[in-house]
Amino acid sequence: MVGKLASIALLALAAEQVAGADLIGLDPSLISEGTTLYLEHCSVCHGREADGKGPLASGFTPSPRDFTKGNFKFRSTKVGEAPTQADLTKTIKNGITGSYGQSMPAFDFFTDRELAALAEVIGLVAGIKEYATPVAPPPRPRRANIAKGKALFQELLCARCHGDKGDGQGVLAATLKDESGKSIRPADFRKGQFKGGNAPEDIWMRIYAGLDGTPMPAFGRNTSAADIWAVTEYVMTLSNKE
Ligand code: HEC
Ligand code: HEC
Repeated sequence: MVGKLASIALLALAAEQVAGADLIGLDPSLISEGTTLYLEHCSVCHGREADGKGPLASGFTPSPRDFTKGNFKFRSTKVGEAPTQADLTKTIKNGITGSYGQSMPAFDFFTDRELAALAEVIGLVAGIKEYATPVAPPPRPRRANIAKGKALFQELLCARCHGDKGDGQGVLAATLKDESGKSIRPADFRKGQFKGGNAPEDIWMRIYAGLDGTPMPAFGRNTSAADIWAVTEYVMTLSNKE
């Protein structure tokens, strides 16, 4: 999914012409505003070319996202689809803090319009032609099936990466790499801190949709919504068990 205009510098120049182009679903009036905000607040990590190679990038694991690759971890859309605009603005507003600490600061001072403008620019660079329709998890079952979730945690091979105790130290953990070729650690569930949000529905969505660009698979492909709820509940029981 590489965009036609895979460069922020190009975007800045092309903002005027882009207004007339075939940007189905994207709002051209926000592009020039978003480009300015991006260069001011984001390029220091994500790079002026949006390739994840800003001057501060080397200090972060995982690396700041290379938007030209078009992969996004935090999506509320079907397996393999692009994120929604709300997925992008939520990430920008909340930042990213996972079980190994913070990897992107929260930009909670932006207005909704500024957040939308930034999402627009990132969407364009990533080659998103149209925002996907969000999917919501089915309602959380009133009674959690923890025993089933525990069995699924082994059957679906979660433990191979995340470890039997969910400490992120499964047998495959040391071998895993992300799209940039850098080593990536499976989340440590004992911390109870998830990058894409700590609500049960957020965790369900991550297991359903996977984290694109990482070895974390999208289980929505072959696993039922009910089974994903069972394993979500089990993951939550592993929290605060250090
Ligand atoms: C201090 C460094 C830093 C700054 C500044 C920064 N980011 Fe990030 N950003 C990161 C890192 C690191 C990641 C990858 C985190 C991960 O994958 O765990 C990331 C990931 C992202 C993602 C990917 C979300 C997904 O679903 O995969 C988006 C979108 C994003 N940043 C947008 C922005 C925007 C917009 C700005 C400017 C307003 C910005 N970032 C500023 C470090 C930064
Ligand atoms: C091949 C290895 C692998 C397998 C199998 C795997 N994961 Fe993951 N998982 C990862 C990695 C790596 C990450 C961290 C990605 C990151 O930090 O960007 C992760 C992250 C997660 C997260 C954190 C999401 C967030 O918002 O921070 C959850 C929840 C999760 N996995 C649940 C599961 C469950 C449940 C299963 C089995 C049904 C599973 N994983 C199977 C590798 C794996």
